[in-house]
Amino acid sequence: MTSTSNDSLLVKILSSDRPLESVTVRGWVRTRRDAKGFSFVELNDGSTLKNLQIILDADTRGLLDPGDVQTGAALEVEGALSPSPGKGQRWELRAREAKILGKAEPGYPLQKKRHTDEFLRGIAHLRPRTNKYGALFRVRSETAYALHAFFRERSFFYLHSPVITGSDAEGAGELFRVGAAGDDPATGGFFGKPASLTVSGQLEAELFALALGRVYTFGPAFRAERSNTARHAAEFWMAEPEAAFFDLDMTMDLAEELVKHLVRWAMDESRDDLELFERFLEKGLFSRLEDLCGRAYERIPYFEAVRLLKESGRIFEHPPEHGSDIQTEHERFLTESYFKGPVFVYDYPAEIKPFYMRLSDDETTVRAMDLLVPRVGEIVGGSQREERLDKLLGRMDALGLSPESYWWYLDSRRYGGAPHSGFGLGFERLLMLITGIGNIRDVLPFPRTPGNLEF
Ligand code: 4AD
Repeated sequence: MTSTSNDSLLVKILSSDRPLESVTVRGWVRTRRDAKGFSFVELNDGSTLKNLQIILDADTRGLLDPGDVQTGAALEVEGALSPSPGKGQRWELRAREAKILGKAEPGYPLQKKRHTDEFLRGIAHLRPRTNKYGALFRVRSETAYALHAFFRERSFFYLHSPVITGSDAEGAGELFRVGAAGDDPATGGFFGKPASLTVSGQLEAELFALALGRVYTFGPAFRAERSNTARHAAEFWMAEPEAAFFDLDMTMDLAEELVKHLVRWAMDESRDDLELFERFLEKGLFSRLEDLCGRAYERIPYFEAVRLLKESGRIFEHPPEHGSDIQTEHERFLTESYFKGPVFVYDYPAEIKPFYMRLSDDETTVRAMDLLVPRVGEIVGGSQREERLDKLLGRMDALGLSPESYWWYLDSRRYGGAPHSGFGLGFERLLMLITGIGNIRDVLPFPRTPGNLEF
């Protein structure tokens, strides 16, 4: 049909610096407008936000059944790429040959008008054909590539941590259980022990960091969170770097560099797509992104964050208390009202954090950090890990975790258990930060949330 190079894609053709005598394009009809003797078809093949205007004259129209050239139909056209007299487009294609590759039946839901996000969620199988979601999913792909480039430049190796696991890394109990169809629980099922989908690849990443030095995972994580919010999904993607010989400060440096790198990359490489968001979703998007890249992110210890919240004079639904979690409303105050930008909060009380975080000398706090950003809230959570076996066992005991089931994790402390640190970056939340999209359901190809498992 065609070569696998991108020569036949609109992204390449539309950037041509000269007319082309003959090109063949294939894509989906966005709109058709008929005039005397001509039809104008806006064609899009998904490779770019921009459409190519196709001009069908009486001859080429004769090749097609006009009823078939409908919005949504797949069309192949051969013709000459010529300068366009039309506004806002450099090129148009004067068709010589045209054929329908796939008709669109009547009732195609994506007609030329603005659809609500709620409506489009109901047709998640078709929404990537809209300008907004096409743009978003290209940005998502580009940002994933940028993530790999970032870690590769810093000699981090990509680790594929398992999706099926026998341990609850975060200890928060939000597990999805896994079993084979027909498993008999009395026999322990397929694996002979309880199995679940991973909530985090961190524990496995730690083992590899203590072997390869610097690693990162990038894959899906699963949490049965019942809270139906705009920032939580049951299946989301997380990047988890883990580095031997990194302390907490280096880890915050790494997280800050990563976020800036990804934002900058999207601004440079996905400019056309982001311009759509700037125009229709968030005026001032580019200056906000520029600011995210240009400023140093604040860093404050947890006790200081609680003090700021208490002294803010604000009435919070959850009054800030030392020893309790930082709530969404608190994150908003810190990032949007007080610092007006991203802030790392670090050194949390030990009792509200998981077992693996390193105890500080006074043993009341752990070396944890969260990166909070305006509007989206927490996008990064990480820590320096507890590398001292006795302290780790003490923490596990306090939390009622059995050392026997974590024997392999504890071995990493028994044999060369060096200082190491890492974090998890919520990939969807990062995309919300970059695009200004306010709901996590709209940055996931097929979102999974309580009660939603269509597609
Ligand atoms: O803060 P969390 O729970 O950290 C961990 O999982 C650590 N094991 C990471 C590590 O140190 N290697 O999650 C990390 C990030 C959060 O900051 C958030 O951005 C995202 O993952 N996240 C979610 N994103 C969407 N939906 C959910 N249900 C999420 N839960 C966490």
